[in-house]
Amino acid sequence: MKKVRKAVFPVAGMGTRFLPATKASPKEMLPIVDKPLIQFAVEEAVAAGITDMVFVTGRSKRSIEDHFDKAYELESELEARGKSELLDFVRNMIPKNINCIYIRQAEALGLGHAVLCAKPVIGDEPFAVLLADDLLDGKPAVMKQMTDTYDYYRCSVLGVQDVPRADTRSYGIVDARAVADRVEQINAIVEKPKPEDAPSTLAVVGRYILTPRIFHHLETIKPGAGGELQLTDGIASLLSEEQVLAYRYDGTRYDCGSKLGYLQATVVFGQRHPEVGPEFDAYLKSLGD
Ligand code: G1P
Repeated sequence: MKKVRKAVFPVAGMGTRFLPATKASPKEMLPIVDKPLIQFAVEEAVAAGITDMVFVTGRSKRSIEDHFDKAYELESELEARGKSELLDFVRNMIPKNINCIYIRQAEALGLGHAVLCAKPVIGDEPFAVLLADDLLDGKPAVMKQMTDTYDYYRCSVLGVQDVPRADTRSYGIVDARAVADRVEQINAIVEKPKPEDAPSTLAVVGRYILTPRIFHHLETIKPGAGGELQLTDGIASLLSEEQVLAYRYDGTRYDCGSKLGYLQATVVFGQRHPEVGPEFDAYLKSLGD
């Protein structure tokens, strides 16, 4: 029985919504207080027992590789200054058994294409996909909830939530029927439909567990919405031969691909921050006076 051991992080996008902040540095490195979005996503995968992190990168993404790498200069500087707490913190950012693998997506041809780039390292195993700009705050971690669902049903699982009908054009939307608490069987999936065409308001968020059969479908589909090779279209094609489930995750999603969602996450995580939380909370309250 194969476990989900590998996760794909497509991080080759341009991040145009956060210009100029993302002109020279990746949007996945934007911090929520003091932790970059990509680290939240990696920690969520670690919490689900995933050990191999596969980053599909593009131009200007060097800082993501550096972030998860050993930082010799920083470590020796901290050591020289006797900052042992910070040193431990930097050294143990991710557990020692985690492997980070980087694949370069030469052209940004879409999310489906990014996932297909990971095929040589995924092989014949189920795997997770995490889009770091969706920050999911759940207990247990949302990816852990999803790997548990996978372990039970042994088929592809997509994280979903209800959205206002007016927003369907920002998401993959599923047509599904409930089979258990939080679990629905998907009949159809469509990428970014207009509100009037959407089969429902159940939207796919940036969390997927996919069987390796998805690669075959990603290899055969044609470019879809926006002229891009869409993961959603690959999943629609996969549905012709395998069951795919939608999982209504338990938690809160911050759409950190949008300025508003990013600000909301910053406020919530700021209030909770062990170092500045109480003071920040008092500050926010004082604004209301
Ligand atoms: C991507 C997917 C979409 C999904 C969304 C979740 O879109 O193509 O199906 O609903 O992520 O965040 P993007 O937000 O990259 O345009």
